[in-house]
Amino acid sequence: MPLRAFTVLGIETSCDETAAALVRGAGSGPGEILSNVIFSQLEEHRPYGGVVPEIAARAHVEMLDGIVEQALADAALKLGEVDAVAATAGPGLIGGVMVGLLTAKALALAAGKPLVAVNHLEAHGLSARLSEGVEFPFLLLLVSGGHCQLLGVEGVGRFRLYGTTIDDAAGEAFDKVAKLLGLAYPGGPRIEALAREGNPKRYTLPRPLFGREGADFSFSGLKTAVRQVTLEGEVRAADLAASFQAAVIDILRNRTAAAMAMFVCDFPSAPSPAFVMAGGVAANGAIRSALGALATARGFSMKVPPPQLCTDNAAMVAWAGIERAQSGLFDPLDVAARARWPLAKNGEAA
Ligand code: KG4
Ligand code: ZN
Repeated sequence: MPLRAFTVLGIETSCDETAAALVRGAGSGPGEILSNVIFSQLEEHRPYGGVVPEIAARAHVEMLDGIVEQALADAALKLGEVDAVAATAGPGLIGGVMVGLLTAKALALAAGKPLVAVNHLEAHGLSARLSEGVEFPFLLLLVSGGHCQLLGVEGVGRFRLYGTTIDDAAGEAFDKVAKLLGLAYPGGPRIEALAREGNPKRYTLPRPLFGREGADFSFSGLKTAVRQVTLEGEVRAADLAASFQAAVIDILRNRTAAAMAMFVCDFPSAPSPAFVMAGGVAANGAIRSALGALATARGFSMKVPPPQLCTDNAAMVAWAGIERAQSGLFDPLDVAARARWPLAKNGEAA
């Protein structure tokens, strides 16, 4: 039986983006993005070189009402015309998560619509179903400022954890190395641009956990090694950025290859399964082409959502809301905001 199409309002406030979106869809996607409004608080946080939770929460309070109104107006919809309201309920900076979730509860109550409390990681994880209509099961590499995980995704709420970072997330490593090189926050795009002009072989840097059993990641030793190079004297920033990015690529490729082998064991009958990259770091062109080549060599087809759906956004939250709503997974109005909320039972506590 074909699934019913839902129109869902999504709200995202777990980090430094205040966002609201309306998405319509049914089944495995792709969905139709009716509106997707994002206000980035980057300028507010830039002077501090990272996200300041108090500043973030206050900015969400100030911006969110107007952004929800804008999202409804862009979609030419009234609140009464949506089927459900979905909001990120964690994991993330708790002050911000509470602002978004409370707003969603108020809107759901006022309009008499059901509420869906969405896990931010699941929203990233399902985003390739929204944009590309990827089918279950698929292998997911979630790489952002807060997360670095390899997961087998069997269905809504059904994940197998293959690997996770034992220290920093990949995006965090980009941001910290950018800071060492005197580059502005967020560091990922700046390192990528600088690396294009650099020699990736100029500095010898470690590849922690490379070749080890399992598919876990570690980046803190790499970051420390970069700091050591900067302390030893004059550096050529482009060469150091390129050498760092090359090390990150080697780590991601090696750990992803290990997870691909585990996935094939778990799902031997999936023909040419999708390998999905999601999260802010998936916007990196060099990482995409390296992992795309790996995917092809291993019989996977790589799918990456477009850049505006890779970084934090509310369309992916609305889409996760649609998928959960279709399984009847609504939440009561007293559902709690969660700073930590791992996707898989044995998972990293995000
Ligand atoms: O998914 P996201 O918007 O937020 C969360 O962390 O949930 O990801 C932001 C992260 C930052 O660490 C940023 O430096 C990184 O993604 N990033 C990149 C690139 N664009 C964003 N890292 C490497 N290369 C990029 N082009
Ligand atoms: Zn995110």
